[in-house]
Amino acid sequence: MNYNRTLITAALPYANGPVHIGHLAGVYVPADIYARYLRLKGKETLFVCGSDEHGVPVTIRARKEGITTQQVVDRYHELIKRSFADFGISFDIYSRTTSNIHHKLASDYFRKLYDNGKFIEQTTEQFYDPETGHFLTDRNIRGECPHCHNLGAYGDQCEKCGSTLSPEELINPYNAETGNPLVKKPTSHWYLPLDQYQQWLEQWILEEHKEWRPNVYGQCKSWLDGGLRPRAVTRDLDWGIPVPVEGAEGKVLYVWFDAPIGYISNTKELCDAQPEKYGNWEKWWKDPSTRLIHFIGKDNIVFHCIVFPAMLKADGSYILPDNVPSNEFLNLEGDKISTSRNWAVWLNEYLDDFPGKQDVLRYVLTANAPETKDNDFTWADFQARNNNELVAIYGNFVNRALVLTGKYFDGKVPAQGELSDYDKATIDEFNNVKTTLEDLLNNFRFRDAQKEAMNLARIGNKYLADTEPWKLAKTDLDRTATILNLSLQIAANLAIAFEPFLPFSSAKLREMLGLESFNWEELGRTDLLAEGHPLGQVSLLFEKIDDAPIQAQLDRLARIKAENEAAAQAEALKNWQPVPVKAPTTIDEFDKADIRVGTVLECTNVKKSDRLLQFRIDDGMGGRTILSGIAQSYPDPSVLVGKQVLFIANFPPRKMMGIESQGMILSAVNADGKLIVTTVTAPVRNGAQVG
Ligand code: MF3
Ligand code: ZN
Repeated sequence: MNYNRTLITAALPYANGPVHIGHLAGVYVPADIYARYLRLKGKETLFVCGSDEHGVPVTIRARKEGITTQQVVDRYHELIKRSFADFGISFDIYSRTTSNIHHKLASDYFRKLYDNGKFIEQTTEQFYDPETGHFLTDRNIRGECPHCHNLGAYGDQCEKCGSTLSPEELINPYNAETGNPLVKKPTSHWYLPLDQYQQWLEQWILEEHKEWRPNVYGQCKSWLDGGLRPRAVTRDLDWGIPVPVEGAEGKVLYVWFDAPIGYISNTKELCDAQPEKYGNWEKWWKDPSTRLIHFIGKDNIVFHCIVFPAMLKADGSYILPDNVPSNEFLNLEGDKISTSRNWAVWLNEYLDDFPGKQDVLRYVLTANAPETKDNDFTWADFQARNNNELVAIYGNFVNRALVLTGKYFDGKVPAQGELSDYDKATIDEFNNVKTTLEDLLNNFRFRDAQKEAMNLARIGNKYLADTEPWKLAKTDLDRTATILNLSLQIAANLAIAFEPFLPFSSAKLREMLGLESFNWEELGRTDLLAEGHPLGQVSLLFEKIDDAPIQAQLDRLARIKAENEAAAQAEALKNWQPVPVKAPTTIDEFDKADIRVGTVLECTNVKKSDRLLQFRIDDGMGGRTILSGIAQSYPDPSVLVGKQVLFIANFPPRKMMGIESQGMILSAVNADGKLIVTTVTAPVRNGAQVG
């Protein structure tokens, strides 16, 4: 298929918090690379995004911060929009789903499907808080877990035992915020009957889009194999776009119904404002010669590959996405990124902490892009990639080429004389860079593409190191001229090749080379700078990052980790309940265990075990050794020395880690999970029996 233009969308971020490196690596950096690449190639391209301002996440944030939902979305929309712009994400428009245009378009979209009988209406019983007059979402319902009897389980999950739950399973469900008990109440909603689209989706995705990334294709396949069911597209909430149907007061469009329509609304907003520049919005959404590409994170796959296409199909006048490049997740220092736990590097904070270093983060995020599997961001890697790659290879090469030209040729591009075999071999090494890069970029393989661009810098750096023009200059200025000419041509190639990835550095390099503009088609050429062409002001393209700012970031994360651990402990203690009493037993059964008192003489960690402590006990009968799996609870086991403890004296001896344990020390499991050794208060003779 030959397309005339490309419409690129990037998932609309929820306006419930700032954007973090996980969002950037997963969605916005790759989308921006692709958009910049197409523009540089001179392709008609539109890159659309905006804030997703409806849904429960923003309302939760509002309650947490004690402000109105409107204030939340206003605050984060502005913050996100500004940091994207500062970071060089080159959206043609970044609008928002609270805009009038969007409200109207989403509302009309629903109404058209409604009028054409595309929905089914169903009444179900939902949990309702009679006090507040609200229906509740799963996350806002809490109650007792049917499995572990944790009193604070959520309507979708028990965080204590990890079971997945539905609100129906909770014992005594209550409103998470008010604590009010809930009742069931019937409510009716509109559903998009996805089951009716099953066959069509199977054909369209599984047969016609086998080229989609394996993670995307695989997820779609497993959804389809599981059988699609109707999905509610309305909710009982007071934040959102009102359902445009008589008698639907108090109901709004489900956020996942309205948000993707935001792509269309934002396109319309831009085109309506500047029709001469962007044309009619419908050409971007309804002309089959437009290619639509959605960049998203993996948690968005089902919505963009199944639900939204079914919505587009239901309307019937829209094109469908041609590809949905979705990344896996990026972790931070080995832990899952989490907005609620503040475990993230926030874009706005990064921009404050590392001013002018947008490209460093862009580079690192692409170098570690989670394209095929989850990946990890570490500050050590960030520093190393900056210092060892951007500074030592790319920056070093460009700087030497420019400084030497300044020194020996008055800052003017010297003449290219006869090329040596080595020059020719070097040129050969990079003259296919354009095809290689295009092949990778066309297939959304940004990580490898950037590696290829870096490889070009490596070629340049090696060329200078091997030819040593700074030595030659004393004896052979003509040869020096040729070497520097070729080096500058490579530098110009670098500016082009890196533009999609590192736009700030490319702009800087372009100025240093005294170039007005460049385009992608020039890649691989060695005549980009004419003899005598004056270079611009030379400055460093990248700067070394030393340990102090990196340590500051690590310290911040350590602080957050400690805070989170303390909060988790406090939460566990708050919800703690004694475990249910065991099944009845008898004194005879109990009497079989011989419990004695003994004094701890020594208590040490067992080598190579992070679990076991080794006790030497004065048991009044010649002493014994007992092992106990409580090391995690006693960072300093010596605190137990001298204590009188209780132990079971008549268990058969058992070998662990090559040591024989002669009994069992009694401990209590505390609310925080720590095992606390039970001790005797008044001194008792060692060997005394307990019963
Ligand atoms: N706000 C959603 C998220 O962050 C993404 C919405 S994408 C759109 O997961 F298609 F709905 F716009
Ligand atoms: Zn549970």
